[in-house]
Amino acid sequence: MTKFKWFIVWLIMTVSASAFLGYQMFQAEEKPLFIPNETTHGHYQIEMKCSACHTPNMGVKQDACITCHSQDLKDGQDSHPENKFNDPRNFDMIAKLDARKCITCHTEHSPHTTGDMGVTLPIDYCAACHESIGEERESHKNLKFDSCATAGCHNYHDNKALYEDFLIKHYDQKDHLENAKEIPLETKKQKALTKPDADFIVDPQTHHDWSSTAHAKGGVNCKDCHQPDAQLPWSDKVSVSTCQDCHEDEYKGFSEGKHGMRLAAGLTPMTPGQARLDMKRDAAHKELNCISCHSDHRFDTKVAAVDACLRCHSDDHSLNYKQSPHFNFWQIDHLTKQNNKGVSCATCHMPRVKKHGKVVVEHNQNATLRPNEKMIRTSCLKCHSLQFSINALADKELIEKNFKGRPTVHVESLEWAKQREKK
Ligand code: HEC
Ligand code: HEC
Ligand code: HEC
Ligand code: HEC
Ligand code: HEC
Ligand code: HEC
Ligand code: HEC
Ligand code: HEC
Ligand code: HEC
Ligand code: HEC
Repeated sequence: MTKFKWFIVWLIMTVSASAFLGYQMFQAEEKPLFIPNETTHGHYQIEMKCSACHTPNMGVKQDACITCHSQDLKDGQDSHPENKFNDPRNFDMIAKLDARKCITCHTEHSPHTTGDMGVTLPIDYCAACHESIGEERESHKNLKFDSCATAGCHNYHDNKALYEDFLIKHYDQKDHLENAKEIPLETKKQKALTKPDADFIVDPQTHHDWSSTAHAKGGVNCKDCHQPDAQLPWSDKVSVSTCQDCHEDEYKGFSEGKHGMRLAAGLTPMTPGQARLDMKRDAAHKELNCISCHSDHRFDTKVAAVDACLRCHSDDHSLNYKQSPHFNFWQIDHLTKQNNKGVSCATCHMPRVKKHGKVVVEHNQNATLRPNEKMIRTSCLKCHSLQFSINALADKELIEKNFKGRPTVHVESLEWAKQREKK
């Protein structure tokens, strides 16, 4: 080959290599190639969507965290909101630890320094601002600062079930409340449809399932789901957005938790195959949407509350549930057609809560998951005392056994609050 031919080969290779690299850089916004390190367990599902947090030149968006999290912090009546630190009297604290910025405590791509709940500071940092607490309170004299937030006493953000007046109000109750009960769901008054009203009859089972359950009773016909737009043809598939049109609250919750966050970010649906938690192997390719739990035409909420979950989840805690007294009573409730003692997976993870004057099922199963004291008000206190609930939730082994047995941990904060009140 002549020198000239070699030059041409060299030229072609150089041009294509730089074109490739240039393309990658330009595209870096949605490409894994330049990700510095994996993101926290809270965000790994959407980590490929760099633009959720970053500006095009890889700065962190000023309001990235607030856009998605301001509502949960507000609902939790955040004890350390930004405005507390805009007060000039607290400026000396900011000099030590700038608590106005989320990323002071929650940075990303830093797996080696990331602890529970995406916290990237050593857990004794409360000392930066509360170092004199031992002098102010007799009970706190010899406590270590790494125990403030790990012993079932305090959280940094959400203390709705842990503040002093609340502790005092719930002092000295029985472990199992006598008037234990679940909140009943509401039904709308609508003109019910019956068998002859069906838009279509495909098979007797579908016809029966539809006509004997909530959608026919609520006046919803076949086409409302299968042909919501009269201009388009009938479709056997029903999209999440069709369900969303009638069930906005449920969709909103779903989209804010680990089940729906990928869909909400415009990515493909989450599947158990992509999960970090233990999942059933044969469920690896199941896509998460409304019908993951509400399958067939009965939309049976009892199936959704336990059996559906166990089609995918297979960590020890989930698998141990069926040995728990909660499950036992749940079955008894169904036999006796009562609704006050049993506890399903959904009772804890998708609780019935009152929101803007309505009873709704919280479809964000992360809303009360961590810190787990969030579950106290939405679930445990319907049936147990505060002391019993705090103790049980501070006992990691008991959680793994899915609450079969009594708590072996005793959190003293109720007694301390009571003693201080007496003084
Ligand atoms: C959930 C939010 C989030 C997502 C999604 C995210 N990042 Fe980040 N990223 C951050 C935060 C927070 C920081 C830390 C900023 C700081 O400490 O100043 C950061 C830092 C970085 C840095 C600087 C790293 C360093 O060590 O200085 C780069 C580069 C980066 N991210 C790239 C990416 C890329 C590429 C993607 C997508 C593949 C991505 N990030 C997705 C939140 C995110
Ligand atoms: C001074 C440290 C600190 C700062 C600043 C901080 N956090 Fe946190 N965050 C924590 C700690 C510690 C936890 C663990 C749970 C707890 O103690 O409340 C946590 C937990 C969380 C959680 C999960 C639990 C929950 O209560 O919802 C979210 C979401 C969260 N932080 C978002 C934010 C956002 C958004 C900001 C900025 C507005 C922020 N955090 C600022 C320390 C901090
Ligand atoms: C696109 C929306 C979105 C953005 C942007 C976002 N988050 Fe999140 N974050 C989520 C979702 C969804 C979860 C998982 C569900 C949950 O745990 O609440 C999560 C989880 C978390 C958790 C872990 C909670 C736990 O249960 O352990 C923390 C802490 C957190 N986010 C803080 C932040 C901070 C700080 C930022 C800004 C750097 C941020 N988030 C940006 C949506 C977002
Ligand atoms: C950057 C400074 C700062 C850090 C870090 C900090 N706090 Fe605070 N904390 C404050 C300020 C300021 C107040 C408000 C004091 C007041 O109102 O008198 C406060 C109030 C409180 C209260 C009073 C009750 C309430 O809900 O208002 C408790 C309890 C508390 N903090 C616990 C903690 C714990 C536990 C940690 C660590 C997980 C922590 N704080 C970390 C500054 C901080
Ligand atoms: C509340 C919404 C809803 C209503 C009302 C409804 N369906 Fe469906 N239907 C679905 C969903 C969801 C699927 C499963 C779709 C998928 O797999 O994506 C389905 C599936 C089907 C299929 C596909 C085959 C199968 O069984 O999976 C047929 C046929 C069907 N429905 C007929 C009907 C008929 C006839 C009626 C009225 C008697 C009706 N549907 C009422 C939601 C509904
Ligand atoms: C045209 C509106 C409409 C559409 C579309 C729709 N629903 Fe419904 N849905 C209703 C009504 C009305 C009720 C009865 C509400 C009541 O009684 O208060 C209901 C009830 C339910 C229930 C409660 C069942 C029970 O036994 O209590 C579930 C679960 C449900 N829908 C899920 C879905 C899912 C999943 C989809 C999408 C596949 C969907 N719905 C599509 C209107 C709709
Ligand atoms: C992880 C499982 C799961 C997923 C996914 C799920 N649901 Fe549910 N849903 C439940 C459970 C469990 C209940 C009943 C809880 C109870 O009885 O307290 C329920 C109840 C409902 C109800 C009845 C609420 C009421 O107040 O009567 C509606 C409507 C509903 N879901 C719609 C949806 C829609 C729409 C989607 C998709 C955006 C969806 N669900 C996704 C598990 C799920
Ligand atoms: C189609 C499969 C599927 C079904 C059905 C399902 N899940 Fe999940 N679930 C998942 C996947 C996948 C994740 C994400 C796990 C991860 O990110 O590692 C998840 C996450 C969760 C989380 C959050 C875990 C965490 O650490 O943040 C909880 C809690 C949860 N599911 C409870 C339930 C409950 C309760 C039910 C039934 C009412 C249910 N799931 C039904 C697949 C499913
Ligand atoms: C009595 C309440 C209760 C019941 C019933 C319950 N859980 Fe949990 N679950 C919890 C608590 C508390 C945690 C731990 C939260 C924490 O501290 O991180 C948890 C954690 C989880 C997690 C996250 C595990 C992880 O390692 O991140 C999943 C997934 C889960 N539960 C699924 C289920 C399923 C599926 C069922 C039913 C078969 C169920 N749970 C029944 C209270 C309950
Ligand atoms: C709807 C009512 C209800 C709710 C909500 C509920 N429980 Fe229970 N729990 C019961 C009943 C009933 C028993 C069985 C009591 C018995 O055996 O007599 C029980 C038993 C227990 C036990 C075993 C006690 C023993 O003596 O063996 C623990 C631990 C427990 N619950 C913890 C919790 C926690 C933690 C929560 C909240 C996350 C919770 N429960 C929510 C009704 C409930």
